[in-house]
Amino acid sequence: MNISVVGTSYVGLVSAACFADLGANVLCVDTDARRISTLLYGGIPVYEPGLEALVKRNVDDGRLHFSTNLTDAYEHAPIIFCAVETPPAADGTTDLSQVIALAKSFGAQVTKPSTFIIRSTVPVGTASEVNRIIGEQIAARAVDVQYDVVSNPDFLQEGTAIKDFMSPDRVIMGLSSKRAKAVMSRIYFPLKSNNFPIIYTDNTTAEMIKYASTSMLATRVSFMNEIANLCERVGADVNIVRRGVGTDSRIGSKYIYPGCGYGGTCFPKDIKDLIKIAERHDFSMDVLRAVDDVNTKQKHLLFQKLSRFYGGDLKGKTVALWGLSFKPETDDMREAPSIVTLDQLMDAGCNVRVYDPVAMNECRTRWNSVYCAMDMYDAVNGADALLLLTEWRQFRLPNWERVKANLKTPLVIDGRNIYNPKVMGEMGFNYYCIGL
Ligand SMILES: NC(=O)c1ccc[n+]([C@@H]2O[C@H](COP(=O)([O-])OP(=O)(O)OC[C@H]3O[C@@H](n4cnc5c(N)ncnc54)[C@H](O)[C@@H]3O)[C@@H](O)[C@H]2O)c1
Repeated sequence: MNISVVGTSYVGLVSAACFADLGANVLCVDTDARRISTLLYGGIPVYEPGLEALVKRNVDDGRLHFSTNLTDAYEHAPIIFCAVETPPAADGTTDLSQVIALAKSFGAQVTKPSTFIIRSTVPVGTASEVNRIIGEQIAARAVDVQYDVVSNPDFLQEGTAIKDFMSPDRVIMGLSSKRAKAVMSRIYFPLKSNNFPIIYTDNTTAEMIKYASTSMLATRVSFMNEIANLCERVGADVNIVRRGVGTDSRIGSKYIYPGCGYGGTCFPKDIKDLIKIAERHDFSMDVLRAVDDVNTKQKHLLFQKLSRFYGGDLKGKTVALWGLSFKPETDDMREAPSIVTLDQLMDAGCNVRVYDPVAMNECRTRWNSVYCAMDMYDAVNGADALLLLTEWRQFRLPNWERVKANLKTPLVIDGRNIYNPKVMGEMGFNYYCIGL
């Protein structure tokens, strides 16, 4: 089976490499020549555990190819996955220009019956707009080419993307023809032994499922963050509250960990966009507005705690940060709480020393006066405080004696509640976390 995937970031590259690993002959196309050049020279443009080996194996076996030319994609296969970016626009909606550009180019060039599969996260109603654009382009050429537009949203989590692809909780397929259903069933057939449900529906419902799922998860996070902030005020232990709540089988333990806010490419963007979509239909998503609001405030919390400790004057203080990516096992810093904290520290006149196992490059390009440390212990050298932003595994059991010896002041502010407050106190640290 020949498949083309357009967009070679977390979603596109993982999907392409996984399809190739299942035996398909996959062409990956990206208009970013640097990305394609990296891939052609054996590199990987994003950090995702297991991806480098998966890509290499399939390139070596001749099943995974790369190009910067979109025409190659349409010639290579009658199945085109659209995994291009859909970044947030300044007004809170989603910038669909890359999806629209791809739809136009597909409509202008496709010559054989083809399926255009939207893997990117898009606002409700996008598939029908894409359908219209492709139809318009084909009509303008006065040719008759059959095509289908399928909404097949990706639910991958960065850090576990390969497992999420091969063994998803479910696959959503929004489509409207028997032909499209037959194509999609063939594509996903090899994975069906993993026993996940496939939900067939129309495009609009599929698009809504993606936004509603993201919103539900973000709601759980913001809800628990609000509970944590109240726990802090009334003297309850939020870590035990979380366990007590999460052991209720109706609730479950996932996505209720208090912290310094969610980030990434999905939660913040999808929620803001759903709020805007509702507005266009004269409807107010009150719960989601609150979720977004709580998250914005939560991202300021670590700085507030630090500022409170030093009586509001942070000028000239040296502050160490552990973790920059929006979560562990990714180099993705988009919408990460670390961005807010770093900006606040710089504005307050602090000297900042950071360490992240994989996200240092992004930091170097954003802030040239931040010290990028060699390792986690170098980061805390001479610092007046250590702030933990991302719960990378290597930060969980540090050599505390070394940390304490390196810090100027034994102050630790834990934005992910990964340390034991009692033990930290016993070791002589001033320790603060979320909700305690
Ligand atoms: N990253 C995630 O965790 C995740 C999870 C689920 C869904 N999504 C969604 O999937 C989509 C892709 O996200 P991502 O994080 O994989 O990628 P991204 O947004 O980081 O980058 C997309 C890639 O597409 C390329 N591109 C943009 N326009 C193009 C065009 N016209 N032709 C060819 N290539 C083009 C870019 O150069 C880039 O390499 C987005 O809609 C995102 O919201 C992301």
